[in-house]
Amino acid sequence: MKTQLTEQEIRDEVNRLAPFLHKVDLPYNLSTYVPELSHRKIEYTRVSNLVKHAFPALVEACGGTMQGKRVLDVACNCGGFSVEAAKLKSEYILGIDIVDHYIEQANFIKRALGLHHMNFKVMDIDNLDKSTVGLFDVVFCFGILYHLENPIHTMRRLASVTKNIMLVDTSVIHIPAYFRPFFRKPLWLMKFPAAPKVDSNSASTSLWRSKERVGQFRPNEVAVVDLLKFLGFSKIEKIEPNQKGLEERYYAGKRVTFLAIR
Ligand SMILES: C[S@@+](CC[C@H](N)C(=O)[O-])C[C@H]1O[C@@H](n2cnc3c(N)ncnc32)[C@H](O)[C@@H]1O
Repeated sequence: MKTQLTEQEIRDEVNRLAPFLHKVDLPYNLSTYVPELSHRKIEYTRVSNLVKHAFPALVEACGGTMQGKRVLDVACNCGGFSVEAAKLKSEYILGIDIVDHYIEQANFIKRALGLHHMNFKVMDIDNLDKSTVGLFDVVFCFGILYHLENPIHTMRRLASVTKNIMLVDTSVIHIPAYFRPFFRKPLWLMKFPAAPKVDSNSASTSLWRSKERVGQFRPNEVAVVDLLKFLGFSKIEKIEPNQKGLEERYYAGKRVTFLAIR
């Protein structure tokens, strides 16, 4: 890894492109996380949390190493998880996101870190096609399932480019323990959230829905498992939040990660 940028160029780009959703360490002891430019606590914790929580199970499912794997990072935002896949020596990584600004951030990080086997494209998940992007050993489906207008349709497309493993990290409908016996069926809660303002706290994650309102479906855990089975995954494991220091939403059962294997 060799950067093509000077320290001043990196500082200038971080300031121009901030806020970033993912904290990524950059050369010269710099980082994409700048406290004065950040609006949300999650911008500090997102990548390190999910890596700590889910990557040990992922690497184990890959036979102990990501070496030689082709990885697709959908809804990659600024690409923090793609960088983590690169650190684990994945052979090739493609990150796609629908927002130009996030892909500009990701390409800046790529240049700053000199990671040539990592590519980023502005692309809608609905346009993924194996004849153009190929197949991937591992697909990261993080922070997107509960944002989809057509979850079954879009997840089918994602599954069609997944050769072996899909790691799904999603918000779920939280059902208090005493009600759970009554909610064993798959549920999707339909929502029409207000379009966030561009200068709001969610600028690092919600730009794609800042112009027009979108419909979304939030699943319960059973719905995620049933959907993954329907898509042809034979082994689906919920990764329990056993690690200390994760975001509270994982312990509260509002956020769940599943490892799905063909
Ligand atoms: C909540 S963020 C999650 C980012 C990252 N995957 C993570 O988990 O930290 C949702 C991301 O999905 C992207 N997105 C939304 N709809 C998309 C679509 N149809 N195709 C590709 N990306 C999309 C947004 O631009 C945003 O970066």
